[in-house]
Amino acid sequence: MQAAKTMFKELEEINARPEPFEFYTASDLWTDEHTSKQMLAFHLNGEVDVSSRKAAFIDRSVEWIASHFSVGSKTKIADFGCGPGLYATTLAQRQADVTGIDFSKRSIQYAREAAIRKNLSINYVHQNYLEFGFSIESSFSDVAGSSFNPETEEFAVVAKRLI
Ligand SMILES: C[S@@+](CC[C@H](N)C(=O)[O-])C[C@H]1O[C@@H](n2cnc3c(N)ncnc32)[C@H](O)[C@@H]1O
Repeated sequence: MQAAKTMFKELEEINARPEPFEFYTASDLWTDEHTSKQMLAFHLNGEVDVSSRKAAFIDRSVEWIASHFSVGSKTKIADFGCGPGLYATTLAQRQADVTGIDFSKRSIQYAREAAIRKNLSINYVHQNYLEFGFSIESSFSDVAGSSFNPETEEFAVVAKRLI
């Protein structure tokens, strides 16, 4: 019992945020009225890796996704955390039936307007995606299909929704 208490205390300490970040939550970054405006500006700047990857990487990533999943008119795609729809847009332009889910009202609004401007039929849902369940089928080191390496800072998984 004492050992478990000590372990929980240690875990609490390990997980405590350093002081400058103790009031930060990831959801605020994307959903707060002011920070979400800045994050959207970063999304739309194709030259920086801040809110989204640089435009050149997104192009490479969409190429890989399209080829790996043979994306076409019969493909249904759910883009979890779609932001302003940078991937959703290009995948819809490849005829996929795309649903984008994001809890940032500002990004979803931008994405919906962009779809109208580009005459694309994309279903954008303003929702927190954490309530869905999945099983992981394969893992990669990025969304351009690089082999999985546990040392890299990012990863991608191919997952199927649990029924
Ligand atoms: C790093 S951005 C990437 C956006 C987009 N996939 C792209 O690459 O351009 C992460 C996105 O996930 C969204 N997000 C994070 N957690 C979420 C959650 N639990 N439910 C819905 N959206 C979430 C954020 O609002 C943000 O738009």
